[in-house]
Amino acid sequence: MQGTDYLAVFCKCCVLIAVVFWFTVNNLKAPSNIKQFRAHSSLHDRNISLHIRNTVSTSNSISSTKRLKEFKMNYEKEPSNRNFSAEMRNRKSGTRYLIAWYQPPDFGNFKESTVRLQNCQYNNCALTTNKSLLSQSDVLLFYHSTMPRIPPNRTKYDQKWCFVTYESPYNVNRLYNASEWKNKFDWTMTYRQDSDVFSPYSVVKARKGISRNNYSDIFKEKTNDIVWVVSHCDTVSKRERYVNEMQKIINIDILGGCGKSRCSGSYLNCRRRLSKRYKFYLSFENSLCTDYLTEKVFHVYGESVNMVPIVRGAPNHKQYLPNGTYISTSDFKSPIELANYLKNLSFSEERYLSYLKEKDRYLSLYDYIPINEFGLCNLCKNLNQNVTKSFRKMDLETWIWKDQCHIPTDL
Ligand SMILES: *[C@@H]1O[C@H](CO)[C@@H](O)[C@H](O)[C@H]1NC(C)=O
Ligand SMILES: *[C@@H]1O[C@H](CO)[C@@H](O)[C@H](O)[C@H]1NC(C)=O
Ligand SMILES: *[C@@H]1O[C@H](CO)[C@@H](O)[C@H](O)[C@H]1NC(C)=O
Ligand SMILES: *[C@@H]1O[C@H](CO)[C@@H](O)[C@H](O)[C@H]1NC(C)=O
Ligand SMILES: *[C@@H]1O[C@H](CO)[C@@H](O)[C@H](O)[C@H]1NC(C)=O
Ligand SMILES: *[C@@H]1O[C@H](CO)[C@@H](O)[C@H](O)[C@H]1NC(C)=O
Ligand SMILES: *[C@@H]1O[C@H](CO)[C@@H](O)[C@H](O)[C@H]1NC(C)=O
Ligand SMILES: *[C@@H]1O[C@H](CO)[C@@H](O)[C@H](O)[C@H]1NC(C)=O
Ligand SMILES: *[C@@H]1O[C@H](CO)[C@@H](O)[C@H](O)[C@H]1NC(C)=O
Repeated sequence: MQGTDYLAVFCKCCVLIAVVFWFTVNNLKAPSNIKQFRAHSSLHDRNISLHIRNTVSTSNSISSTKRLKEFKMNYEKEPSNRNFSAEMRNRKSGTRYLIAWYQPPDFGNFKESTVRLQNCQYNNCALTTNKSLLSQSDVLLFYHSTMPRIPPNRTKYDQKWCFVTYESPYNVNRLYNASEWKNKFDWTMTYRQDSDVFSPYSVVKARKGISRNNYSDIFKEKTNDIVWVVSHCDTVSKRERYVNEMQKIINIDILGGCGKSRCSGSYLNCRRRLSKRYKFYLSFENSLCTDYLTEKVFHVYGESVNMVPIVRGAPNHKQYLPNGTYISTSDFKSPIELANYLKNLSFSEERYLSYLKEKDRYLSLYDYIPINEFGLCNLCKNLNQNVTKSFRKMDLETWIWKDQCHIPTDL
Protein backbone atom coordinates (compact mmCIF):
# COMPACT_ATOMS: atom_id res chain seq x y z
CA MET A 1 0.00 0.00 0.00
CA GLN A 2 1.26 3.46 -0.80
CA GLY A 3 1.13 6.49 1.46
CA THR A 4 -1.91 7.93 -0.26
CA ASP A 5 -3.72 4.62 0.21
CA TYR A 6 -3.07 4.75 3.94
CA LEU A 7 -4.38 8.27 3.94
CA ALA A 8 -7.51 7.22 2.10
CA VAL A 9 -8.13 4.33 4.48
CA PHE A 10 -7.47 6.60 7.45
CA CYS A 11 -9.96 9.16 6.13
CA LYS A 12 -12.56 6.48 5.51
CA CYS A 13 -12.12 5.23 9.06
CA CYS A 14 -12.50 8.76 10.41
CA VAL A 15 -15.67 9.25 8.44
CA LEU A 16 -17.01 5.89 9.61
CA ILE A 17 -16.24 6.63 13.24
CA ALA A 18 -17.79 10.08 12.95
CA VAL A 19 -20.92 8.66 11.35
CA VAL A 20 -21.25 5.91 13.96
CA PHE A 21 -20.68 8.37 16.80
CA TRP A 22 -23.11 10.87 15.38
CA PHE A 23 -25.73 8.21 14.77
CA THR A 24 -25.19 6.96 18.31
CA VAL A 25 -25.53 10.34 19.93
CA ASN A 26 -28.56 11.23 17.87
CA ASN A 27 -30.30 8.01 18.65
CA LEU A 28 -29.48 7.96 22.31
CA LYS A 29 -30.25 11.54 23.08
CA ALA A 30 -32.84 11.65 25.81
CA PRO A 31 -36.12 13.16 24.70
CA SER A 32 -36.09 16.62 26.16
CA ASN A 33 -39.69 17.44 26.68
CA ILE A 34 -41.46 14.21 27.45
CA LYS A 35 -40.82 12.17 30.50
CA GLN A 36 -42.03 8.63 30.34
CA PHE A 37 -43.44 6.13 27.96
CA ARG A 38 -46.17 3.66 28.37
CA ALA A 39 -45.80 0.23 26.88
CA HIS A 40 -48.74 0.43 24.61
CA SER A 41 -48.95 0.03 20.90
CA SER A 42 -51.58 1.13 18.49
CA LEU A 43 -51.31 -2.41 17.17
CA HIS A 44 -52.87 -3.69 20.35
CA ASP A 45 -56.27 -3.16 18.79
CA ARG A 46 -55.56 -6.19 16.72
CA ASN A 47 -53.90 -8.02 19.61
CA ILE A 48 -50.46 -7.99 18.17
CA SER A 49 -48.50 -7.74 21.33
CA LEU A 50 -45.20 -6.02 21.61
CA HIS A 51 -42.54 -8.56 22.29
CA ILE A 52 -40.15 -5.99 23.52
CA ARG A 53 -39.82 -5.44 27.18
CA ASN A 54 -39.87 -1.79 28.17
CA THR A 55 -37.48 -0.86 25.44
CA VAL A 56 -38.39 2.77 25.41
CA SER A 57 -38.95 3.35 29.08
CA THR A 58 -35.80 1.52 30.12
CA SER A 59 -33.53 3.35 27.79
CA ASN A 60 -35.25 6.61 28.57
CA SER A 61 -34.84 6.38 32.30
CA ILE A 62 -31.07 6.47 32.27
CA SER A 63 -28.82 9.37 31.42
CA SER A 64 -27.34 9.93 28.00
CA THR A 65 -23.84 9.40 29.35
CA LYS A 66 -24.76 6.10 30.87
CA ARG A 67 -26.51 5.12 27.70
CA LEU A 68 -23.51 5.97 25.61
CA LYS A 69 -21.41 3.86 27.92
CA GLU A 70 -23.86 1.00 27.65
CA PHE A 71 -23.84 1.43 23.90
CA LYS A 72 -20.08 1.23 23.82
CA MET A 73 -20.08 -1.89 25.95
CA ASN A 74 -22.75 -3.58 23.91
CA TYR A 75 -21.73 -2.50 20.48
CA GLU A 76 -18.17 -1.46 20.10
CA LYS A 77 -16.25 -4.56 21.03
CA GLU A 78 -18.22 -6.57 18.52
CA PRO A 79 -18.36 -8.56 16.46
CA SER A 80 -14.90 -10.02 16.06
CA ASN A 81 -14.17 -10.93 19.67
CA ARG A 82 -17.63 -12.21 20.45
CA ASN A 83 -17.76 -15.78 21.63
CA PHE A 84 -21.16 -17.20 20.89
CA SER A 85 -20.65 -20.59 22.39
CA ALA A 86 -19.78 -18.96 25.68
CA GLU A 87 -22.52 -16.40 25.37
CA MET A 88 -25.20 -18.92 24.58
CA ARG A 89 -24.19 -21.09 27.50
CA ASN A 90 -24.20 -18.16 29.87
CA ARG A 91 -27.83 -17.38 29.27
CA LYS A 92 -30.10 -18.21 32.15
CA SER A 93 -32.80 -20.41 30.67
CA GLY A 94 -32.21 -23.88 29.33
CA THR A 95 -32.53 -23.70 25.56
CA ARG A 96 -30.55 -21.27 23.43
CA TYR A 97 -31.05 -20.41 19.82
CA LEU A 98 -28.72 -19.02 17.21
CA ILE A 99 -30.07 -17.00 14.28
CA ALA A 100 -27.75 -16.45 11.33
CA TRP A 101 -27.84 -14.24 8.29
CA TYR A 102 -26.87 -16.48 5.40
CA GLN A 103 -25.82 -13.25 3.74
CA PRO A 104 -26.88 -9.93 5.29
CA PRO A 105 -28.81 -7.38 3.23
CA ASP A 106 -26.80 -5.12 0.97
CA PHE A 107 -27.73 -1.91 2.74
CA GLY A 108 -27.54 -0.64 6.29
CA ASN A 109 -25.76 -2.43 9.04
CA PHE A 110 -27.14 -5.82 9.93
CA LYS A 111 -24.28 -7.04 12.02
CA GLU A 112 -25.10 -8.75 15.27
CA SER A 113 -23.67 -5.70 16.96
CA THR A 114 -26.58 -3.50 15.94
CA VAL A 115 -29.42 -5.53 17.40
CA ARG A 116 -29.94 -6.20 21.05
CA LEU A 117 -31.94 -9.35 21.46
CA GLN A 118 -31.47 -9.31 25.22
CA ASN A 119 -34.40 -6.89 25.38
CA CYS A 120 -36.78 -9.45 23.93
CA GLN A 121 -39.51 -11.17 25.87
CA TYR A 122 -37.53 -14.34 25.22
CA ASN A 123 -33.91 -13.36 25.56
CA ASN A 124 -32.28 -16.64 24.71
CA CYS A 125 -31.52 -15.90 21.05
CA ALA A 126 -28.40 -14.51 19.45
CA LEU A 127 -27.82 -13.21 15.94
CA THR A 128 -24.71 -13.82 13.92
CA THR A 129 -23.27 -13.06 10.50
CA ASN A 130 -20.37 -15.43 11.02
CA LYS A 131 -20.36 -17.89 8.12
CA SER A 132 -18.66 -20.61 10.11
CA LEU A 133 -21.68 -20.77 12.41
CA LEU A 134 -24.22 -21.35 9.63
CA SER A 135 -24.30 -25.10 10.01
CA GLN A 136 -25.04 -24.98 13.73
CA SER A 137 -27.61 -22.16 13.59
CA ASP A 138 -31.25 -22.79 14.41
CA VAL A 139 -32.45 -20.31 11.80
CA LEU A 140 -30.93 -19.13 8.54
CA LEU A 141 -32.18 -15.78 7.29
CA PHE A 142 -32.18 -15.37 3.52
CA TYR A 143 -32.64 -11.81 2.34
CA HIS A 144 -34.53 -11.54 -0.95
CA SER A 145 -31.79 -9.69 -2.81
CA THR A 146 -28.68 -11.28 -1.32
CA MET A 147 -29.72 -14.92 -1.16
CA PRO A 148 -27.74 -17.32 -3.36
CA ARG A 149 -29.13 -18.36 -6.72
CA ILE A 150 -28.91 -22.02 -5.70
CA PRO A 151 -29.82 -23.02 -2.15
CA PRO A 152 -27.07 -24.44 0.04
CA ASN A 153 -27.29 -27.98 1.34
CA ARG A 154 -29.02 -28.37 4.66
CA THR A 155 -26.64 -29.41 7.38
CA LYS A 156 -28.98 -29.42 10.36
CA TYR A 157 -32.22 -31.24 9.94
CA ASP A 158 -34.41 -29.08 12.16
CA GLN A 159 -32.92 -25.79 10.97
CA LYS A 160 -35.53 -23.21 9.95
CA TRP A 161 -35.03 -21.33 6.70
CA CYS A 162 -36.59 -17.94 6.71
CA PHE A 163 -37.29 -15.78 3.67
CA VAL A 164 -36.82 -12.12 4.53
CA THR A 165 -37.93 -9.06 2.62
CA TYR A 166 -38.93 -5.50 3.44
CA GLU A 167 -40.01 -4.54 -0.04
CA SER A 168 -43.49 -4.48 -1.46
CA PRO A 169 -44.28 -7.22 -4.01
CA TYR A 170 -43.31 -4.95 -6.89
CA ASN A 171 -39.78 -4.57 -5.59
CA VAL A 172 -38.99 -8.01 -4.26
CA ASN A 173 -36.09 -9.63 -6.03
CA ARG A 174 -37.27 -12.74 -7.82
CA LEU A 175 -34.26 -14.90 -6.89
CA TYR A 176 -36.60 -17.04 -4.78
CA ASN A 177 -38.59 -17.95 -7.87
CA ALA A 178 -35.84 -20.21 -9.25
CA SER A 179 -37.02 -23.81 -9.36
CA GLU A 180 -34.18 -24.85 -7.02
CA TRP A 181 -35.74 -22.76 -4.26
CA LYS A 182 -39.14 -24.32 -4.52
CA ASN A 183 -40.44 -25.44 -1.10
CA LYS A 184 -37.23 -24.54 0.67
CA PHE A 185 -38.53 -21.99 3.13
CA ASP A 186 -40.08 -22.77 6.48
CA TRP A 187 -40.87 -19.21 7.47
CA THR A 188 -41.29 -15.75 6.05
CA MET A 189 -40.24 -12.59 7.85
CA THR A 190 -41.67 -9.40 6.35
CA TYR A 191 -43.57 -6.23 7.20
CA ARG A 192 -46.77 -8.19 6.68
CA GLN A 193 -48.84 -9.18 9.70
CA ASP A 194 -49.55 -12.54 8.15
CA SER A 195 -45.87 -13.42 7.88
CA ASP A 196 -44.66 -16.22 10.08
CA VAL A 197 -42.50 -13.56 11.68
CA PHE A 198 -44.05 -10.11 11.72
CA SER A 199 -41.35 -7.49 11.32
CA PRO A 200 -42.77 -4.02 10.69
CA TYR A 201 -40.55 -1.06 9.87
CA SER A 202 -41.49 0.40 13.20
CA VAL A 203 -44.18 0.54 15.81
CA VAL A 204 -45.90 3.67 17.10
CA LYS A 205 -46.24 3.67 20.86
CA ALA A 206 -48.19 5.94 23.15
CA ARG A 207 -46.14 7.83 25.68
CA LYS A 208 -47.06 9.06 29.09
CA GLY A 209 -46.36 12.57 30.25
CA ILE A 210 -47.16 16.00 28.96
CA SER A 211 -45.28 17.63 26.16
CA ARG A 212 -43.71 20.93 27.14
CA ASN A 213 -43.70 22.19 23.59
CA ASN A 214 -44.78 25.79 23.13
CA TYR A 215 -47.10 25.06 20.26
CA SER A 216 -47.96 28.60 19.33
CA ASP A 217 -44.24 29.28 18.92
CA ILE A 218 -43.91 26.15 16.83
CA PHE A 219 -46.78 27.23 14.64
CA LYS A 220 -45.42 30.76 14.22
CA GLU A 221 -42.05 29.47 13.05
CA LYS A 222 -43.64 27.47 10.27
CA THR A 223 -43.43 29.53 7.12
CA ASN A 224 -44.12 26.77 4.59
CA ASP A 225 -46.86 24.25 4.04
CA ILE A 226 -45.77 20.91 2.63
CA VAL A 227 -42.44 19.19 2.09
CA TRP A 228 -41.68 15.93 0.33
CA VAL A 229 -38.33 14.14 0.33
CA VAL A 230 -38.24 11.63 -2.48
CA SER A 231 -35.68 9.90 -4.70
CA HIS A 232 -37.72 7.29 -6.52
CA CYS A 233 -39.55 9.42 -9.07
CA ASP A 234 -41.64 6.98 -11.07
CA THR A 235 -43.74 4.60 -8.97
CA VAL A 236 -46.62 2.17 -9.24
CA SER A 237 -48.50 4.18 -6.63
CA LYS A 238 -48.31 7.15 -9.02
CA ARG A 239 -47.55 9.38 -6.06
CA GLU A 240 -45.73 11.77 -8.37
CA ARG A 241 -48.96 12.34 -10.27
CA TYR A 242 -50.90 12.78 -7.06
CA VAL A 243 -48.42 15.45 -5.97
CA ASN A 244 -48.59 17.20 -9.34
CA GLU A 245 -52.33 17.52 -8.91
CA MET A 246 -52.03 18.87 -5.38
CA GLN A 247 -49.52 21.45 -6.54
CA LYS A 248 -52.21 23.15 -8.57
CA ILE A 249 -53.72 24.28 -5.26
CA ILE A 250 -50.97 24.29 -2.65
CA ASN A 251 -47.23 24.75 -2.62
CA ILE A 252 -45.16 21.58 -2.13
CA ASP A 253 -41.38 21.76 -1.82
CA ILE A 254 -39.67 18.68 -3.18
CA LEU A 255 -36.24 17.59 -1.90
CA GLY A 256 -34.13 14.52 -2.54
CA GLY A 257 -33.23 12.85 -5.80
CA CYS A 258 -36.45 13.95 -7.51
CA GLY A 259 -36.28 17.49 -6.20
CA LYS A 260 -34.27 20.64 -6.21
CA SER A 261 -31.81 19.79 -3.46
CA ARG A 262 -30.75 17.10 -1.03
CA CYS A 263 -31.70 16.99 2.59
CA SER A 264 -28.41 16.60 4.41
CA GLY A 265 -27.82 14.81 7.66
CA SER A 266 -29.31 11.62 8.99
CA TYR A 267 -32.78 10.65 7.93
CA LEU A 268 -34.25 11.64 11.26
CA ASN A 269 -32.28 14.85 11.65
CA CYS A 270 -33.25 15.99 8.18
CA ARG A 271 -36.89 15.58 9.19
CA ARG A 272 -36.34 17.44 12.44
CA ARG A 273 -34.82 20.34 10.60
CA LEU A 274 -37.58 20.47 7.99
CA SER A 275 -40.22 20.36 10.69
CA LYS A 276 -39.18 23.79 11.95
CA ARG A 277 -40.42 25.33 8.72
CA TYR A 278 -42.99 22.95 7.31
CA LYS A 279 -46.43 22.01 8.56
CA PHE A 280 -46.96 18.80 6.63
CA TYR A 281 -44.79 15.95 5.43
CA LEU A 282 -45.80 13.70 2.54
CA SER A 283 -45.44 10.08 3.67
CA PHE A 284 -46.24 8.63 0.26
CA GLU A 285 -45.21 5.01 -0.30
CA ASN A 286 -44.07 3.73 -3.68
CA SER A 287 -46.82 1.10 -3.70
CA LEU A 288 -50.26 0.69 -2.20
CA CYS A 289 -50.13 -2.67 -0.46
CA THR A 290 -51.54 -4.12 2.74
CA ASP A 291 -49.32 -3.39 5.78
CA TYR A 292 -46.79 -1.56 3.62
CA LEU A 293 -45.81 1.42 5.73
CA THR A 294 -42.17 2.36 5.85
CA GLU A 295 -39.81 4.78 7.51
CA LYS A 296 -41.46 7.46 5.36
CA VAL A 297 -44.31 7.60 7.81
CA PHE A 298 -42.69 6.28 10.98
CA HIS A 299 -40.00 8.95 10.97
CA VAL A 300 -42.58 11.65 11.34
CA TYR A 301 -43.40 10.01 14.68
CA GLY A 302 -39.75 10.36 15.67
CA GLU A 303 -38.70 12.46 18.63
CA SER A 304 -38.93 16.21 17.93
CA VAL A 305 -40.30 15.86 14.42
CA ASN A 306 -43.08 18.44 14.51
CA MET A 307 -44.91 17.86 11.26
CA VAL A 308 -48.23 16.24 10.48
CA PRO A 309 -47.82 13.25 8.15
CA ILE A 310 -50.00 12.94 5.07
CA VAL A 311 -50.21 9.23 4.52
CA ARG A 312 -50.60 7.33 1.28
CA GLY A 313 -49.72 3.63 1.32
CA ALA A 314 -51.20 0.66 3.13
CA PRO A 315 -54.99 0.71 2.92
CA ASN A 316 -55.03 -0.63 6.50
CA HIS A 317 -52.80 2.15 7.88
CA LYS A 318 -55.43 2.87 10.54
CA GLN A 319 -54.26 -0.25 12.36
CA TYR A 320 -50.80 1.22 12.68
CA LEU A 321 -51.31 4.93 13.23
CA PRO A 322 -53.37 6.55 15.98
CA ASN A 323 -56.44 8.42 14.87
CA GLY A 324 -56.15 12.18 14.77
CA THR A 325 -52.36 12.18 14.34
CA TYR A 326 -52.20 12.12 10.55
CA ILE A 327 -54.12 12.90 7.39
CA SER A 328 -54.81 10.13 4.91
CA THR A 329 -55.29 10.60 1.19
CA SER A 330 -57.83 7.77 1.37
CA ASP A 331 -60.22 10.12 3.20
CA PHE A 332 -60.37 12.40 0.15
CA LYS A 333 -61.92 11.84 -3.23
CA SER A 334 -59.11 13.53 -5.11
CA PRO A 335 -55.78 15.28 -4.67
CA ILE A 336 -57.53 18.60 -5.29
CA GLU A 337 -59.97 17.99 -2.47
CA LEU A 338 -57.12 17.09 -0.13
CA ALA A 339 -55.09 20.12 -1.17
CA ASN A 340 -58.04 22.40 -0.45
CA TYR A 341 -58.47 20.83 2.95
CA LEU A 342 -54.77 21.31 3.75
CA LYS A 343 -54.77 24.87 2.58
CA ASN A 344 -57.62 25.62 4.92
CA LEU A 345 -56.02 23.69 7.78
CA SER A 346 -52.71 25.47 7.42
CA PHE A 347 -54.40 28.80 8.14
CA SER A 348 -56.03 27.61 11.33
CA GLU A 349 -53.55 27.45 14.17
CA GLU A 350 -55.97 25.68 16.44
CA ARG A 351 -57.08 23.00 14.02
CA TYR A 352 -53.58 22.39 12.73
CA LEU A 353 -52.15 22.13 16.22
CA SER A 354 -54.80 19.67 17.29
CA TYR A 355 -53.16 17.16 14.91
CA LEU A 356 -49.68 18.00 16.08
CA LYS A 357 -50.57 17.79 19.76
CA GLU A 358 -52.27 14.46 19.25
CA LYS A 359 -49.24 13.14 17.37
CA ASP A 360 -46.99 14.21 20.22
CA ARG A 361 -48.68 11.69 22.44
CA TYR A 362 -46.95 8.97 20.45
CA LEU A 363 -43.49 7.93 19.43
CA SER A 364 -41.99 5.65 16.81
CA LEU A 365 -39.94 2.89 18.36
CA TYR A 366 -37.38 2.52 15.59
CA ASP A 367 -35.48 4.92 13.45
CA TYR A 368 -33.47 3.67 10.58
CA ILE A 369 -33.00 -0.05 10.59
CA PRO A 370 -36.09 -1.85 9.35
CA ILE A 371 -34.73 -5.23 10.30
CA ASN A 372 -34.99 -4.43 13.93
CA GLU A 373 -35.37 -6.01 17.29
CA PHE A 374 -39.14 -6.18 16.93
CA GLY A 375 -38.95 -8.75 14.14
CA LEU A 376 -36.05 -10.67 15.60
CA CYS A 377 -37.78 -10.81 18.97
CA ASN A 378 -40.82 -12.28 17.23
CA LEU A 379 -38.55 -14.79 15.56
CA CYS A 380 -37.10 -15.70 18.92
CA LYS A 381 -40.60 -16.12 20.28
CA ASN A 382 -41.47 -18.49 17.43
CA LEU A 383 -38.44 -20.58 18.29
CA ASN A 384 -39.30 -20.70 21.97
CA GLN A 385 -42.92 -21.55 21.31
CA ASN A 386 -41.96 -24.31 18.91
CA VAL A 387 -43.92 -22.71 16.09
CA THR A 388 -43.86 -25.19 13.28
CA LYS A 389 -46.27 -23.58 10.86
CA SER A 390 -44.58 -24.58 7.70
CA PHE A 391 -44.28 -22.26 4.83
CA ARG A 392 -43.22 -25.09 2.56
CA LYS A 393 -46.81 -25.93 1.79
CA MET A 394 -47.32 -22.62 0.07
CA ASP A 395 -46.08 -21.17 -3.12
CA LEU A 396 -44.05 -18.11 -2.25
CA GLU A 397 -44.83 -16.21 -5.44
CA THR A 398 -48.56 -16.62 -4.83
CA TRP A 399 -48.27 -15.64 -1.20
CA ILE A 400 -46.30 -12.52 -2.06
CA TRP A 401 -48.91 -11.21 -4.48
CA LYS A 402 -52.28 -12.57 -3.48
CA ASP A 403 -54.68 -9.83 -2.33
CA GLN A 404 -51.88 -7.46 -1.44
CA CYS A 405 -51.72 -4.45 -3.71
CA HIS A 406 -53.97 -2.16 -5.66
CA ILE A 407 -53.47 0.60 -8.14
CA PRO A 408 -54.64 4.13 -7.35
CA THR A 409 -58.34 4.80 -7.88
CA ASP A 410 -58.33 8.48 -6.96
CA LEU A 411 -56.35 9.82 -9.90
C1 LIG B 1 -54.45 -11.86 22.71
O1 LIG B 1 -53.76 -13.02 22.37
C2 LIG B 1 -53.40 -13.82 23.48
C3 LIG B 1 -52.56 -15.00 23.02
O2 LIG B 1 -52.21 -14.92 21.67
C4 LIG B 1 -54.66 -14.28 24.21
O3 LIG B 1 -54.30 -15.02 25.36
C5 LIG B 1 -55.46 -13.07 24.64
O4 LIG B 1 -56.68 -13.49 25.21
C6 LIG B 1 -55.74 -12.17 23.44
N1 LIG B 1 -56.36 -10.95 23.89
C7 LIG B 1 -57.41 -10.41 23.28
C8 LIG B 1 -57.91 -9.14 23.85
O5 LIG B 1 -57.93 -10.93 22.31
C1 LIG C 1 -16.64 -17.21 13.59
O1 LIG C 1 -16.89 -18.34 14.39
C2 LIG C 1 -15.79 -19.21 14.50
C3 LIG C 1 -16.24 -20.47 15.23
O2 LIG C 1 -16.86 -20.14 16.45
C4 LIG C 1 -14.67 -18.48 15.21
O3 LIG C 1 -13.55 -19.32 15.28
C5 LIG C 1 -14.31 -17.22 14.44
O4 LIG C 1 -13.37 -16.48 15.14
C6 LIG C 1 -15.53 -16.38 14.21
N1 LIG C 1 -15.21 -15.28 13.32
C7 LIG C 1 -15.48 -14.03 13.63
C8 LIG C 1 -15.10 -13.01 12.60
O5 LIG C 1 -16.00 -13.71 14.67
C1 LIG D 1 -15.47 -19.55 23.70
O1 LIG D 1 -15.72 -19.85 25.06
C2 LIG D 1 -15.63 -21.22 25.39
C3 LIG D 1 -16.07 -21.39 26.83
O2 LIG D 1 -15.74 -20.30 27.59
C4 LIG D 1 -14.18 -21.69 25.15
O3 LIG D 1 -14.08 -23.07 25.43
C5 LIG D 1 -13.84 -21.45 23.69
O4 LIG D 1 -12.51 -21.76 23.47
C6 LIG D 1 -14.07 -19.99 23.33
N1 LIG D 1 -13.88 -19.84 21.89
C7 LIG D 1 -13.17 -18.86 21.38
C8 LIG D 1 -13.08 -18.83 19.87
O5 LIG D 1 -12.62 -18.03 22.05
C1 LIG E 1 -24.77 -30.08 -2.12
O1 LIG E 1 -24.34 -31.40 -2.06
C2 LIG E 1 -24.16 -32.02 -3.32
C3 LIG E 1 -23.83 -33.49 -3.12
O2 LIG E 1 -23.09 -33.67 -1.98
C4 LIG E 1 -23.08 -31.28 -4.09
O3 LIG E 1 -22.93 -31.85 -5.37
C5 LIG E 1 -23.51 -29.82 -4.24
O4 LIG E 1 -22.50 -29.09 -4.87
C6 LIG E 1 -23.81 -29.22 -2.90
N1 LIG E 1 -24.40 -27.91 -3.11
C7 LIG E 1 -23.92 -26.81 -2.57
C8 LIG E 1 -24.63 -25.54 -2.90
O5 LIG E 1 -22.95 -26.80 -1.84
C1 LIG F 1 -41.87 -17.59 -11.30
O1 LIG F 1 -41.74 -18.91 -11.78
C2 LIG F 1 -42.89 -19.40 -12.43
C3 LIG F 1 -42.62 -20.82 -12.86
O2 LIG F 1 -41.76 -21.47 -12.03
C4 LIG F 1 -43.23 -18.55 -13.63
O3 LIG F 1 -44.42 -19.00 -14.21
C5 LIG F 1 -43.39 -17.12 -13.17
O4 LIG F 1 -43.59 -16.28 -14.29
C6 LIG F 1 -42.17 -16.65 -12.41
N1 LIG F 1 -42.41 -15.31 -11.91
C7 LIG F 1 -41.53 -14.34 -11.99
C8 LIG F 1 -41.96 -13.00 -11.46
O5 LIG F 1 -40.42 -14.49 -12.43
C1 LIG G 1 -45.05 30.50 24.31
O1 LIG G 1 -44.02 31.42 24.14
C2 LIG G 1 -44.49 32.78 24.01
C3 LIG G 1 -43.28 33.65 23.77
O2 LIG G 1 -42.50 33.14 22.77
C4 LIG G 1 -45.25 33.19 25.26
O3 LIG G 1 -45.77 34.47 25.07
C5 LIG G 1 -46.37 32.21 25.52
O4 LIG G 1 -46.98 32.52 26.75
C6 LIG G 1 -45.84 30.78 25.58
N1 LIG G 1 -46.95 29.87 25.70
C7 LIG G 1 -46.98 28.90 26.59
C8 LIG G 1 -48.19 28.02 26.58
O5 LIG G 1 -46.06 28.67 27.36
C1 LIG H 1 -60.81 10.20 14.49
O1 LIG H 1 -60.54 11.54 14.83
C2 LIG H 1 -61.42 12.46 14.23
C3 LIG H 1 -60.98 13.85 14.62
O2 LIG H 1 -59.64 13.98 14.51
C4 LIG H 1 -62.84 12.18 14.69
O3 LIG H 1 -63.72 13.04 14.02
C5 LIG H 1 -63.21 10.74 14.39
O4 LIG H 1 -64.46 10.43 14.92
C6 LIG H 1 -62.17 9.79 14.96
N1 LIG H 1 -62.47 8.44 14.54
C7 LIG H 1 -62.39 7.39 15.36
C8 LIG H 1 -62.67 6.07 14.77
O5 LIG H 1 -62.12 7.52 16.54
C1 LIG I 1 -62.25 25.85 6.37
O1 LIG I 1 -62.61 25.03 7.47
C2 LIG I 1 -63.65 25.56 8.27
C3 LIG I 1 -63.83 24.67 9.45
O2 LIG I 1 -63.98 23.33 9.08
C4 LIG I 1 -64.90 25.68 7.44
O3 LIG I 1 -65.93 26.25 8.19
C5 LIG I 1 -64.62 26.55 6.22
O4 LIG I 1 -65.72 26.58 5.37
C6 LIG I 1 -63.41 26.03 5.45
N1 LIG I 1 -63.07 26.93 4.40
C7 LIG I 1 -62.81 26.53 3.18
C8 LIG I 1 -62.45 27.61 2.21
O5 LIG I 1 -62.86 25.36 2.86
C1 LIG J 1 -40.62 -26.75 22.82
O1 LIG J 1 -39.89 -27.93 22.60
C2 LIG J 1 -38.92 -28.20 23.61
C3 LIG J 1 -38.11 -29.40 23.18
O2 LIG J 1 -38.90 -30.38 22.60
C4 LIG J 1 -39.62 -28.40 24.95
O3 LIG J 1 -38.67 -28.63 25.95
C5 LIG J 1 -40.43 -27.17 25.27
O4 LIG J 1 -41.18 -27.35 26.45
C6 LIG J 1 -41.37 -26.81 24.14
N1 LIG J 1 -41.96 -25.50 24.41
C7 LIG J 1 -43.26 -25.24 24.25
C8 LIG J 1 -43.71 -23.85 24.57
O5 LIG J 1 -44.03 -26.07 23.85
